[in-house]
Amino acid sequence: MSQSGPGLPRGAPVVKVEHVRLDYHKEKEPLPVLADVSLQAGRDELVAITGPSGCGKSTLLRIVAGLIKPSSGVVRVLESEVKGPREDVAMVFQNFVLLPWRTALENVVFGLSSRKDLTEVQKRQKAQEALDSAGLTGFENVYPGELSGGMKQRVGVARALATEPKVMLMDEPFSSLDDITAERLRVETHSLLISPSTSIQSVILVSHNVEEIIELADKVVVLSGRPAHVAGELTVDLPRPRNKKSDEFFKWVDRVYAYLS
Ligand SMILES: Nc1ncnc2c1ncn2[C@@H]1O[C@H](COP(=O)(O)OP(=O)(O)O)[C@@H](O)[C@H]1O
Ligand SMILES: [Mg+2]
Repeated sequence: MSQSGPGLPRGAPVVKVEHVRLDYHKEKEPLPVLADVSLQAGRDELVAITGPSGCGKSTLLRIVAGLIKPSSGVVRVLESEVKGPREDVAMVFQNFVLLPWRTALENVVFGLSSRKDLTEVQKRQKAQEALDSAGLTGFENVYPGELSGGMKQRVGVARALATEPKVMLMDEPFSSLDDITAERLRVETHSLLISPSTSIQSVILVSHNVEEIIELADKVVVLSGRPAHVAGELTVDLPRPRNKKSDEFFKWVDRVYAYLS
């Protein structure tokens, strides 16, 4: 989420999800998962999507990433329709799958495979910069098997950052980590994403952890029902840095829970 600079003003739409519906198919029967979901993520915004387990959060994020085609409706990123995976959109998963036979650096380079415009040397350079940003300086030549869960997740973040995306999608990126590691990574990831030195204009975070959401989000979208619709949308105007122990903070947590229950 680079600071506004030239281009779009803060809050101008970067991602638009318009009337997206999705049916999976189970034994030939349609399984409706998303019913008419619309939302927007704006310039310099972190939008959190939450909702009960199985309600379709990951499905929605995959649609935004162009990995699944919606049954109807459209997704636009910077006004152009998403028709498949694209270079200006990157995704970080809960359990980022790293290639075990490649080092941390090589895993990040691998994420740049499709970039025909870059030489091998340039790819390694970009990968190194991304590893540095993700706090992995000195771990370039380590294999995934020797990395802790938190470090593996950092490699996942670096792999996404190296592609210099405009939109960063994160699906429960901290939920498989222990509390202390998760908290550190949350703080670091947020400051990284809002740093003017990155290409990122907008972040969509899927999470079922309401405190995490109130810590990080500018806007919260709550999904509910089967098939899921948007049950509520809240703009979190708590000043930053947010005090996780303040009464105000818990008021916001309760507001989100009110939509979830
Ligand atoms: N590839 C698939 N084929 C059929 N059903 C699926 C598929 N992926 C997910 N589902 C079903 O769609 C629903 C939403 O899944 P998901 O998007 O993973 O939810 P969430 O991320 O909110 O937990 C669940 O009922 C799940 O079982
Ligand atoms: Mg999920």
